[in-house]
Order: sequence, then C-alpha cells, then structure tokens
Amino acid sequence: MPAGPSRKKACKYTDNILISQIFCQSVYFIIFVLSKINAMKIGICNDHAGVEYKFKLVKMLQKRGIEVVNFGTDTEASVDYPDFAHRLASAVENGEVDLGIALCGTGNGMAMSLNKHQGIRAGLAWGTAIGHLVAQHNNANVLVLPARFISYRLASAIVREWLDTPFEGGRHQGRIDKIPCR
Ligand code: RB5
Repeated sequence: MPAGPSRKKACKYTDNILISQIFCQSVYFIIFVLSKINAMKIGICNDHAGVEYKFKLVKMLQKRGIEVVNFGTDTEASVDYPDFAHRLASAVENGEVDLGIALCGTGNGMAMSLNKHQGIRAGLAWGTAIGHLVAQHNNANVLVLPARFISYRLASAIVREWLDTPFEGGRHQGRIDKIPCR
C-alpha cells in the first residue's frame, strides 16, 4: 500500500525524534569525555595523625569536582609516614596524579620523605598566607599539612588557597629549576 501524506508525516516525525536523541546522546558523551580529560586528579596520603582531616578534605575536594586518589592510611593504627609519602611522591612523579596533599602530626616527616624525590616540591604550610606563597613562589606540587597543629577549618582553607593560586613563574622559575640534585 503506498504511503499516504499522513504516514509520510509520521515517518518524518519519528526520524526527527531519532536524530535529536542521537544528537543529545553525542553531546552528553562529548561533555562526559571532556569532563574526564579536564578533571584534576589529586593524590592524598597521611599517617595515623592525619586520618580524620584526610577524609574531610577528600569530601571537600570531590565537591569541587576534583578526583582524589587515596594512598592511605585509613585507620588510626600507628604507621610509618615514609611508607605513604613515597607512594604519593611516585604517583606525582609518574603523572598518575597532578598534585598531592600529605598530612602527618607536624608535617615534617611527610615533607622530609617527599622531598627525597627529585620531582617533588613538597611545601609545609600552617597558614593561608604560606599556602598562597608555596603555590605562587615555589610551585609546590605537594602540599603538606601539620594535622596536630592546625584546625580542620584552617587545613581546608590552606588547601583551597594553594589550589586557587597560580605559580608566578619569572624569577621563581629559575629558582625552582635549581632545586633538584643532579
Ligand atoms: C606520629 O606520632 C608523628 O611522629 C608523625 O605524625 C609526624 O609528626 C612526623 O613527622
């Protein structure tokens, strides 16, 4: 039976729906791929002194759309901070994550261990002004926090300041180029 004008109209209508569905799905797919490409990945590690702040920071970072890779430890059982610092440092050095955050009691054990790696510039910060400068002047690729000496509120503010501050470059570039031992 030949298709009448109303049948032709109905076909055109279903074709249009199909085309717009394919179009929408393609747009969603492109947005999904782009969001995966653009999402910043941050690695985080801590010893037993930093567990509580670590989990709170993970939530805060995820709310900002940042993907977080947790290198442990996840309990308050006593551990040795270098075991976790070296895992995080290697992940930053090999590009598995873009940046890192490390927490221990004073921050010093983590900073000392992280900075043994030639590709790491780990900066200890206990205030937002230092969080700002460690990004602006030192281009720290790992931020270290002294969990037993600052409030969570301050820790979170330092992380946000460090993340939101661009590296100034210029004379600071030449200085950070001289940090690694060759
Ligand atoms: C653990 O008790 C403590 O020594 C550690 O968290 C850190 O402060 C080391 O630098």
